[in-house]
Amino acid sequence: MGLPSVVPDSGLPGRVSIHEVGPRDGLQNESSLVPVTVKAEFIARLAAAGLERVEATSFVHPKWVPQLADAEELMPRLAGLTDRHPGLRLPVLVPNERGLDRALAHHATEIAVFASATETFARRNLNRSAAEALEMFRPVVERAAGAGVPTRGYLSMCFGDPWEGPVPLDQVVGFGVRLLELGCTELSLGDTIGVATPGQVTALLAAFDRAGVPAERLAVHFHDTYGQALANTLAALRSGVSTVDASAGGLGGCPYAKSATGNLATEDLVWMLHGLGIETGVDLRSLVATSTWMARQLGRPSPSRAVQALAGSLTADPADSADTPSA
Ligand code: HMG
Ligand code: MG
Repeated sequence: MGLPSVVPDSGLPGRVSIHEVGPRDGLQNESSLVPVTVKAEFIARLAAAGLERVEATSFVHPKWVPQLADAEELMPRLAGLTDRHPGLRLPVLVPNERGLDRALAHHATEIAVFASATETFARRNLNRSAAEALEMFRPVVERAAGAGVPTRGYLSMCFGDPWEGPVPLDQVVGFGVRLLELGCTELSLGDTIGVATPGQVTALLAAFDRAGVPAERLAVHFHDTYGQALANTLAALRSGVSTVDASAGGLGGCPYAKSATGNLATEDLVWMLHGLGIETGVDLRSLVATSTWMARQLGRPSPSRAVQALAGSLTADPADSADTPSA
């Protein structure tokens, strides 16, 4: 299989931490229900490919996201994975205290809450105003911290909203700062519908910096609707961000934002990062094999350009070999 030529560029981090969201953001949007055994195997294969953070599922209302209603069944199937992969982190999405209770009962060690920079999306995704949603998260973050569980904060619609159009920078920074003030350890800036372009990314990160939020506390979460996710990621790396969300095979979307397509594909990201000489810890061959396997489970090809380019050159599926832990 081909690998990119390595030509480093200046002003970029030496290592990028990839926050893999395929099992959560990817599968929450599937039209058919994916069996829990397939989800568990997907996560095990992602860990075996070297991904160190894999967002496993959501403890949201099962009627709101039926695709992830099996969170309770999935969690026990992941037990043991962190023993086999020391350092592996398996965060889960939690919207409220009820979700936190469920997550803690199933031994989640990291959670994420998800706010909105716009009112319309807050109403549609969380059934509350944006400010009410923050108040819903307050006890979640506090109680999680008390249990030794760190919370990531997502902020959606940072670069544009399908109902409200452009979102003012100050509005995004304001909600982002409030999420961090709740006690979130990291803030992931979501381009939920994939409309951002690189200049916008640079401008938003500069606005956060002016507000006293350094790039080290930020992650970027780009959906790839307009093919801009990789360019936007490079802009974020140049601004000092070194945590990037991506979804194996480019799976994904948001069931409450119809114009959202899949996330930046992890393989496309890894190809670029490795070409730039940036470490990720990911074995690209094994990852492509995983997404090829997952595409077979879903019955359609991966939209990832790197998967499409590389899948044919795989002579065997290394994820089928004996050294890959089964879920
Ligand atoms: P609600 O209807 O306002 O809930 O939904 P409620 O608080 O009024 O409670 C109503 C009933 O639901 C109660 O039961 C609760 O116990 C129950 P009753 O007393 O009537 O029998 N309930 C729950 N049950 C199980 N688990 C729970 C839960 N919560 C309440 N967690 C709620 C409010 C937040 C729950 C709902 O709006 C929801 O689940 N929304 C989730 C939507 C979602 O998952 N969207 C996709 C993820 S976000 C995303 O993808 C964006 C991101 O990727 C970043 C980006 O791209 O920008 C992160
Ligand atoms: Mg998303």
